[in-house]
Amino acid sequence: MNIGERRVKIMDTTMRDGHQSLLATRMRLEHMIPIAEKIDAIGFHSVEVWGGATFDSCIRFLNEDPWERLRVFRRHLKNSKTQMLLRGQNVVGYKHYADDVLDEFIKAAVHNGMDIFRIFDALNDVRNMERAMQTTKREGGHVQGTVVYTISPVHNYDFFMRMGKELEQLGADSICLKDMAGILAPYPAYEIIKGLKESLSIPIQLHCHYTSGMAAMTYMKAAEAGVDVIDCAISSMALQTSQPAIETMVAAFKDTPYDTGLDLTALTEIADHFRDIRNNYVQFDNSSNNVDTNVLQYQVPGGMISNFVNQLKEQDALDKLPEVLAEVPRVREDFGFPPLVTPSSQIVGTQAAINVLMGERYKMATNEVKNYMRGFYGRSPAPVNEEARKKIIGDEEPITVRPADLIEPELPAAREEVGPYMEKPEDVVSVALFPQVAPKFLKERMAKKLLVDLDLAAQGSEFYPL
Ligand code: CO
Repeated sequence: MNIGERRVKIMDTTMRDGHQSLLATRMRLEHMIPIAEKIDAIGFHSVEVWGGATFDSCIRFLNEDPWERLRVFRRHLKNSKTQMLLRGQNVVGYKHYADDVLDEFIKAAVHNGMDIFRIFDALNDVRNMERAMQTTKREGGHVQGTVVYTISPVHNYDFFMRMGKELEQLGADSICLKDMAGILAPYPAYEIIKGLKESLSIPIQLHCHYTSGMAAMTYMKAAEAGVDVIDCAISSMALQTSQPAIETMVAAFKDTPYDTGLDLTALTEIADHFRDIRNNYVQFDNSSNNVDTNVLQYQVPGGMISNFVNQLKEQDALDKLPEVLAEVPRVREDFGFPPLVTPSSQIVGTQAAINVLMGERYKMATNEVKNYMRGFYGRSPAPVNEEARKKIIGDEEPITVRPADLIEPELPAAREEVGPYMEKPEDVVSVALFPQVAPKFLKERMAKKLLVDLDLAAQGSEFYPL
């Protein structure tokens, strides 16, 4: 074998998807930075550090400025490409935002050091991705167009080929096949990756979760089919609902045409670091199942099941869990087979729980479900069940245009809201994205600064002569 003729590259997901999947996105920057330079030296294709739920979590739970987090990462990852997950028109939130918010977000992200933007839409509605792709391109970022993998009668081989082609034609610099639920089996992966490699001329990256226990095998078949990059997490932050372990794939591909060229010894130190710091997050650590078989049966991702357990416990109806799990695929079919990924997973999951708890299907529906039926999330992969729609929104006529076309610019109001608490233009974007939590965060930030200033003043600091 001619070693090194074709390497498989690895993206390290530890500091984004790794802790988002295992530790409810709670990892603080202070626990990542001490090891960042070691990670930088490994030679990963890219390091995923931002986006997805991390932005929200920073503001909502960690009292951390997500923009500052990005800047700090940039300083410590001098030799690596940074990567983020962008939910298309949902940016890093759970609803569609106006184009001005999306544009400003991307501009600021590039400016603060983001290299690769993985852009997806929960419904695989390309109209919801186009603007993000154009803006990223214009600002000089790498556009990774994403095909969300799911299993349904409409999500067949031809669908994935068609969508990959469309994204390439729209200017994607690479394609990601995204299996957020961990249900992509090795042999379908081989077929899809091989097909994409044959029909496209841009690199293909594969993103799997280990949830069902298949992902390492899936990566192996994907490598045989020619995949360029696979997403892995360091061993101490891998497996279960996270990604396959970096070290496993490095060892499995060693001395083969897929050799990653990465050094196992150097990786050990990184694994040790995260094993230690994981102890700080025991209360958020949701790694209980080694292999989740529900995901194979119902396609219900791990995060969704723990949500169900919490919701049902509150209603004193935990015994209804099997019924709810069985209701999820039925709701999904009524909704036209959306992939179960943020925010569609929450929309479908909550409705399934309501249907079971009410004892009658669609007797009650959440606002999100009503908006879904109105077309406000985009076009469903297959037509929705008309009977269900009637029950949910009556005779209301659903929209057929791109949802964001109906949203007025949102930055002016956000700018007003930020007012005196603004330190930098990015603060306006934070408020536009999370108007319920960001203003409080900004106020607290200012209060903290004032306290520090007062303290300095009290000490008679030369900068604050009394
Ligand atoms: Co993921």
